[in-house]
Amino acid sequence: MSENVKLRPEIAALAAYSQGRSPSPDGFKLSSNENPYPALPGVLEAAARHAEINRYPDGAAVALRTRLAERFGVVVDEVVVGAGSSALLQQLFLAAAAPGDEIVYAHRSFEAYPGFVTVAGATSVQVPLTAALEHDLDALAGAVTERTRVVVVCSPNNPTGPAVRAAAFEEFMTRVPADVLVILDEAYREFVTDSGAVDGEHYLGRYPNLVITRTFSKAYGLAGLRVGYAIGPARILSAARATAIPFAVTELGFAAALASLEEQHQRQLDERVTEIVRRRDRLRGLLLEQGWAVPAAQGNFLWLPTGEQTPTATEAFFAADIAVRPFGLEGIRITVGEHESIDRILAVTGALPR
Ligand SMILES: Cc1ncc(COP(=O)(O)O)c(C=O)c1O
Repeated sequence: MSENVKLRPEIAALAAYSQGRSPSPDGFKLSSNENPYPALPGVLEAAARHAEINRYPDGAAVALRTRLAERFGVVVDEVVVGAGSSALLQQLFLAAAAPGDEIVYAHRSFEAYPGFVTVAGATSVQVPLTAALEHDLDALAGAVTERTRVVVVCSPNNPTGPAVRAAAFEEFMTRVPADVLVILDEAYREFVTDSGAVDGEHYLGRYPNLVITRTFSKAYGLAGLRVGYAIGPARILSAARATAIPFAVTELGFAAALASLEEQHQRQLDERVTEIVRRRDRLRGLLLEQGWAVPAAQGNFLWLPTGEQTPTATEAFFAADIAVRPFGLEGIRITVGEHESIDRILAVTGALPR
């Protein structure tokens, strides 16, 4: 009788991460903030050359860490790679927080944070977003107590879209004690066009308690290969590496990430990002014209404040063969995907009551 097996009650009560829904093969999957473009042929070929799958990958990920270190002007020990930035967020939580400790983050923000906190055995402290659906950095800093081990700042914020202002972030860093780890989750940083937005890259080496996390899943279009990275002080990253599942990133992942950073591929990927950003801004403008109060969007997604009608609006999208991500009775997150999806989205939103 498995009922007799003792489990951690908080884990037994925890639901597994719920993935975005899928439409029909002819529909649009705009529920997981994926990149709509297929892999570049050169990147695919680089991955396919790593066919020695009877061997374990390089657990220390030396080649990719070295390349990223060069690119960000840090030393190799200040870079760690993981199975997506999700894995690195969890590893950092595990490294810093245990039962009795608190991890502070915004709500709404990335849905995986609460589960990762629970897995670490720590306690979540959720700080509401402002009325403009932005991070309330003042309140986040104010929520730090002597039990706080980690504060997470998500910029641009998933699912609402706005990025944190650089000046506000710097002020926030002066208020957080230097023994509390700050993680700046920049999964969507490459889509940011607001010059006043925070850019973790500028702060490398400046704060002894700051780690930034980024990913190849979004702008680089490698979500299926699971490669993310974190940059920060070597001592913190070394602790995070100690919590990792060995060999979680494959050689295929390393090869695709390295190839993506080669100049000609990077240029092509940047062009795709520019196109997604253009589409994002155009779609937001058209939704504003329809009367929707869509917050400033700096990632590859938009927030539609559907409130009470969120479940019916979600079904209206699904009926149009568009999968989107609903959040309670608050709103819907729509990923900026294929060009052809724009008119179909606008037909649905145009027919919904505002
Ligand atoms: C804010 C944020 N952080 C991190 C991630 C993790 O992405 P990945 O594990 O694919 O790098 C996501 C994915 O949706 C995200 O939205």
